[in-house]
Amino acid sequence: FYGAVINPTSLTTYSASPRCLLAIDATGNIDWLEEDVEPHALQDTLASRGYIDAQVIPLKDGEFIIPGFIDTHTHAPQVPNMGTGGQYELLDWLKYVTFPTESKFEDISFAQKTYKSVVRRVIDSGTTTCCYYGTLHLEATKVLADVVSSYGQRAFVGKCNMNRESPPHYIEPSSDTSISDTRQLISYIRNLSKPTLTSKQEPLVQPILTPRFAISCTDDLLSSLGELAASEPNLRIQTHISENKSEISFTGSLFPAASHYAGVYDMFGLLRSNTILAHAVHLTQEEISLIKEKNAGISHCPTSNFNLNSGIAPIGLYLDKGIKVGLGTDVSGGFQISILNTIQNACIAAKVCALQAQSDPKHDPSTPGFANKPLPIATLLYLATMGGAAVCGLQNQIGSFAPGKSFDALLVNIREESGNIGIWGLSESEPFQDLDSQRKRLDNWLEKFLFCGDDRNISRVYVQGNLMGGRSYRQ
Ligand code: GUN
Ligand code: FE
Repeated sequence: FYGAVINPTSLTTYSASPRCLLAIDATGNIDWLEEDVEPHALQDTLASRGYIDAQVIPLKDGEFIIPGFIDTHTHAPQVPNMGTGGQYELLDWLKYVTFPTESKFEDISFAQKTYKSVVRRVIDSGTTTCCYYGTLHLEATKVLADVVSSYGQRAFVGKCNMNRESPPHYIEPSSDTSISDTRQLISYIRNLSKPTLTSKQEPLVQPILTPRFAISCTDDLLSSLGELAASEPNLRIQTHISENKSEISFTGSLFPAASHYAGVYDMFGLLRSNTILAHAVHLTQEEISLIKEKNAGISHCPTSNFNLNSGIAPIGLYLDKGIKVGLGTDVSGGFQISILNTIQNACIAAKVCALQAQSDPKHDPSTPGFANKPLPIATLLYLATMGGAAVCGLQNQIGSFAPGKSFDALLVNIREESGNIGIWGLSESEPFQDLDSQRKRLDNWLEKFLFCGDDRNISRVYVQGNLMGGRSYRQ
């Protein structure tokens, strides 16, 4: 590719390179990238790298490439009830909205039809890596893994473990069944994966342990899941934590031996460096220290936290503590499939936190760090890409562009004809402008895309170098 590339580089920085040459090898990995290549130097640069017959895809003015988005927490079977149930808080919402919908996935043909449409939409919204919750059903969750694998998305797919505090028609009969189904799903998904292209890389689709949340698992089940986890140190774990006040107090009453919510997972060996904790809205200082000590990651789900009236997670504080943080749509607690929407709400959530802090007379806005401040654009981009990669344990493989990493990327188009953002007056070829003004223009495009963009602006979606979605792929 030759053209504008935006590449996150740290929590507070990204590089905006208007004339970047980005080379992808035959396995879909990034071979090299060179910034600031003048058009007249293009052929020489390629030749000096030994790229004689390379096919170069030129980007138009108004198009740019960014790393694909990483959704660290979503529920594929809840897409059918997206945008409903906002009158409830978590526990009633589960009872009246979510469990009834999820129970329909006992029907495999319903699962097939729904998951095909869900995964297609998730990909076309720019999510190249997704951590999916399925339902409690083994067969339907196999279907989800099949669909993800056949569409070529990078993903973690888990079957919910839930053997209590759920309705009679939607509950696992025993801890043994739950574990045996989980083991079957793990082998099924591992057998799905095509051989990886390089030995260092992990398969595109991987299993993930998914105890729904502490409330829906008995001690016996959590303890068996802990044993399974101990025998599989590389197996990721995903669950919910400290989302809602009633949930937290109910959890406390079910696990009197644990000193807090995070302590429940820790007690059963489920809190470790490859654990993804969704929400983390109301953690205590003790829990924050424990999560940091265990190096578990947090999935920030601001749309859901607003929608289910759960609260606002103090993400700036977590970043200051050095905790890994990524973004999660948490559909259908969240009402949008797209990480763009999560970025927008992460921005608003941080601003609301900052406003609340201002009303505290002890608040000192000159304190360094992220806590109680709006999040800069670079940080929002980081959370959606590199932060998510770290939470998934794939920081060496995805989340930014660097030699040896996988090319998981979006080709974004904010030209007027793409429909919604409306940047007019762009030329067919790049206009003659000094590099600094072009960089500033690119900063402006990124911000506009993050706040006003949607799937109409995502022309192409690549995973491991393969084009597998986006607006131009559909047409
Ligand atoms: N806690 C347990 N299950 C769920 C769920 O499906 N969504 C959310 N947001 N929280 C949960
Ligand atoms: Fe969730």
